[in-house]
Amino acid sequence: MTTAIPASRPATFLAPTFLLVEPSHYDVSYTINPWMQPGVWAEDPDGHRREAQSAFASLGEALRAAGAQVEIVDGVAGLPDMVFPANGGIVLDRRALLARFRHPQRQGEAPAFRAAFEGFVARGLIDEVITLPAGMTQEGAGDCIWDRTRKLAWTGYGPRSSPGAPAFIAETFDIEVRRLELATDRFYHLDTCFCVLPGGEVLYYPRAFSREGNALIRDTVSADLLIEASDDDAARFCVNAVALDRSVVMATPAERLVGVLRERGYTVSPVALDPFILSGGGAYCMTLRLDLRTR
Ligand code: ARG
Repeated sequence: MTTAIPASRPATFLAPTFLLVEPSHYDVSYTINPWMQPGVWAEDPDGHRREAQSAFASLGEALRAAGAQVEIVDGVAGLPDMVFPANGGIVLDRRALLARFRHPQRQGEAPAFRAAFEGFVARGLIDEVITLPAGMTQEGAGDCIWDRTRKLAWTGYGPRSSPGAPAFIAETFDIEVRRLELATDRFYHLDTCFCVLPGGEVLYYPRAFSREGNALIRDTVSADLLIEASDDDAARFCVNAVALDRSVVMATPAERLVGVLRERGYTVSPVALDPFILSGGGAYCMTLRLDLRTR
């Protein structure tokens, strides 16, 4: 009798798959966006760190309950914002475009994300890691949101990503892009103010965009699919949401937004992400989708 040879590792993701970064090295110790509150963190670092661990666990559970698979890599000491892997790169069609960060505080994350992507290459799950041209910054999927309904990527630029990044993304992945200038430092990544739902609805915060940006959104998305986030929704980081089928995972929302999404057939899974909101991040930027296909 022969023993079955174990099957080789699958070379494709078998479910929607998100990269998460374990938060043991997370803290809020500097300020590179107006939401960051190192003073509040410093009042009770141990308490916040414990809360961060349980918030991270809840996020993983919510994603799995929504049908996702989760890949967790370790963080790195001295790189607290690595818990936001959406900024580490863009992964489309099995190719990873490695980020380049605007602020020195986060620049050390790029080699760490490169190592994570190389790990997926070694497992046969990703084909290659691509580098940005010299001088260009681009903060990953935080500024590049794939819209499967319209077959294009919405790209943000301004506070973090260079104005030239959208064109490079378009060329690299051979996709159509829409360029949205981010008008304020409060909404420094596109994912803080713009979210595409699986049915093609767009949840967005109009005041984060310039007049041209708002016009472009309205020209591309029919009015019945536009959902405006309130000031409160935006400040709670609810626009920074992860949607899978009919589930939307987001930082604890107000009832109004839950109702609006329910009417459109979505179920909201709220996760208390307060310790991460102290750094200006929510559910979407704590994840990086690895299995997206553009065609
Ligand atoms: N403190 C981090 C920063 O300012 C938060 C990043 C959140 N990421 C995001 N894609 N919104 O860079």
